[in-house]
Amino acid sequence: MKNRSSRRNFLKTSFVSTTALSSISAPSILLGGMPSKTINFASVGAGGKGWGDIKSCSKGHKVVAVCDVDYGRLERSKREYPGSKGFVDWRKLLDQKDIDAVTISTPDHMHAPVAMTAMDLGLHVYVQKPLAHDIYEARQMQLKAREKKVITQMGNQGHSGSTYQTVVKMIQSGMIGKVKRAYAWSNRPVWPQGKDTRPELVGDLPTDVSWDHWLGTAPYRPYAKGFYHAFRWRGWLDFGTGALGDMGCHIMDPVVWALGLGAPNSVSAQGPGATQESFPKWSVIDYEFPGTPFTLGKSLKFTWSDGGKLPPHADLKLPKGLKQFPRNGSMFHGENGTLLVQHSSPFWLLPDETFGQVKVERVPGKNHYQEFTKAILGETKTSTHFDYACPLTETVLLGNLAIRVPGKKLEWDTTNLKVTNHKEANQFVKRKYRSGWEVKGL
Ligand SMILES: NC(=O)c1ccc[n+]([C@@H]2O[C@H](COP(=O)([O-])OP(=O)(O)OC[C@H]3O[C@@H](n4cnc5c(N)ncnc54)[C@H](O)[C@@H]3O)[C@@H](O)[C@H]2O)c1
Repeated sequence: MKNRSSRRNFLKTSFVSTTALSSISAPSILLGGMPSKTINFASVGAGGKGWGDIKSCSKGHKVVAVCDVDYGRLERSKREYPGSKGFVDWRKLLDQKDIDAVTISTPDHMHAPVAMTAMDLGLHVYVQKPLAHDIYEARQMQLKAREKKVITQMGNQGHSGSTYQTVVKMIQSGMIGKVKRAYAWSNRPVWPQGKDTRPELVGDLPTDVSWDHWLGTAPYRPYAKGFYHAFRWRGWLDFGTGALGDMGCHIMDPVVWALGLGAPNSVSAQGPGATQESFPKWSVIDYEFPGTPFTLGKSLKFTWSDGGKLPPHADLKLPKGLKQFPRNGSMFHGENGTLLVQHSSPFWLLPDETFGQVKVERVPGKNHYQEFTKAILGETKTSTHFDYACPLTETVLLGNLAIRVPGKKLEWDTTNLKVTNHKEANQFVKRKYRSGWEVKGL
């Protein structure tokens, strides 16, 4: 696989020339003779969430290659982008010389292998959340993105939405004072979790999916129809990242962002913990972060919960009209009140007596996908680039590490990616890839 940096530089240079021309008001028709600014996109995992990812990122540009291990989904994607090449093996897709940027929307265990390889080739990457399956992978992705100076964006599109941007502004402007306690929660899992054993219902290899490619770096597991592909891989330790991994990068994001949280000092999981095979039916994860200018005191306790566990809210006077406490959301308790946020939208300042008359000016939402595309052309910067998204992913995945050893308060050394007070827990920082699927840098 050859480095593609020359085409990348060409894209940037052509943008500079066009900008220079625009600044002397050249009619756009004259720009027809300029070198093309068309970005050549590719998609890996094109048939699920990837369908929307590649469509939204490539708007106004070109899709030259698509990859999916499901033959039917691959055919559908190829039809959608006439002239594009189709691949079952992402490594063959990345061998193509005409690609500038890749959207990566596979199951979680394949995000890092594909993204690291793509970045190593100098390609820009839009990667679904969570960026990685393991903490070690997330750290390596951050380092690789810096080394290669590629444009990166994580698929937590809520970050660009009006609600989360407004929440950040409200917290950082001190609307509820300094924050003393924070929560985030989700109604997931809405797929099987808490299973002690892998499926016994094992059939022949499927004819519609390349199972070896689907497994990729994961340990070999016999194919079991309806248990993994599609969508239901989420709860299995080998492939998914459970309820926390699925929603943490969305719902913990406004808290981490607004409060400027770095890496936690410690983490502990309540609940049954993971089985040998799967994430638990529910979990409550307590993180402790060093204090920041937006928090009260030396440290901040931030609790994640899922599987129907909601944060304490009996004492909260909910606003009239809110019939049910949100099933997915985040909550900040500040010195002067509470900000309750339903995932994506809407939010409430409480209590009503204090904030009833307060008018909040909403920050307009942006297009998360097009931000990535415009950043490639040098027109803007991405907001969930890997210097933000990799540490956020590490925090989320540290919760999953705690789920493997529940009931223990784990002290975390982020510099060395190490639990300092529980030797066995460190085996979950990094996983071993299946023979033949080793990836440079991971
Ligand atoms: N940001 C969001 O709102 C959002 C929403 C849904 C899913 N997601 C994320 O998108 C990713 C995919 O989730 P999904 O629900 O679409 O899963 P899915 O299983 O429905 O779809 C995944 C697709 O990738 C294909 N695939 C699997 N392994 C592959 C491989 N090695 N190479 C190429 N293609 C492969 C599958 O055949 C399938 O078409 C996950 O990371 C998930 O967290 C994000």
